[in-house]
Amino acid sequence: MRYVYINGNFVEYSQATLHISDLGLRRGYAVFEFFRVLRGVAVFLEDHLERFARSAALLELEPPCGRERLEDLIRELIQLNALEQGGIQMLLTGGYSEDAFTPGRPNLIITPTPVSPPPAHLYQQGGKVILQQNQRELPEAKTTDYLMAVRLARRVRAEGATEVVYHDGKRVSEGGRSSLCLIKDGVLVTAREGVLPGITRKHLLEVARPLLPIEERPITLDELFAADEVLLTGATRQVMPITQIEDRPVGSGRVGPWAQKLMAAFQAHLEAYLERRSRPGPA
Ligand SMILES: Cc1ncc(COP(=O)(O)O)c(C=O)c1O
Repeated sequence: MRYVYINGNFVEYSQATLHISDLGLRRGYAVFEFFRVLRGVAVFLEDHLERFARSAALLELEPPCGRERLEDLIRELIQLNALEQGGIQMLLTGGYSEDAFTPGRPNLIITPTPVSPPPAHLYQQGGKVILQQNQRELPEAKTTDYLMAVRLARRVRAEGATEVVYHDGKRVSEGGRSSLCLIKDGVLVTAREGVLPGITRKHLLEVARPLLPIEERPITLDELFAADEVLLTGATRQVMPITQIEDRPVGSGRVGPWAQKLMAAFQAHLEAYLERRSRPGPA
């Protein structure tokens, strides 16, 4: 990835720097956003820009430009880097702060990043998750607070897992970098409050709605253990079946029929989106 956008300019990656007084660095005060680019198309961009604006409002940070300008900048960045497949990260920090505490004028950075999609066997055999008691602050905002997920990344890998799932001792919320859905007796259940509004989850629910009943409500740990099927969703992993939680199998321990149906329906939905967006002319 050659070029990044930083505070009004497209610059070479190696030249993109911020001063050490930035509040994102000093206090972890920053909005974050991430989306995929597939076949040169920014996937579900309008949803990601809406969430970026909501996260900024929750952190009381004012982005330096509006949504249309951001869209233009992102398209320009994709072109400049001839980016066909990958991802884009957006960062809006608390800005330079003299006392290292009071927010200043936000710094905006938009960087293309390489993405390695998860291996195919996770979709064929399902993945494993580990559990961790944790609650993110301001869970509805996507921020740079990935403290627990980063801290546990080595343990996740060492245990042959693909993700950590957070709970509060009673209720399950979401994965470290993903949303969680379960299926029990033909009903899809997913939490809506106290979690990040996942964009992939939103699109999965859209395709799932005509197929099965959906309940958006809190999920208990007992319900998670008793689920027939469990799915994680996220921009990189898309829709991934989970067949093991710690050392317990989920349902039969195999990828279930709903997971297969929903993965296929999501894939078709994504294809249709890419097809619409790659055609010239109005979307
Ligand atoms: C905490 C958390 N929940 C859910 C998600 C999934 O969101 P999306 O589908 O928009 O990638 C993410 C993505 O990084 C996340 O960090």
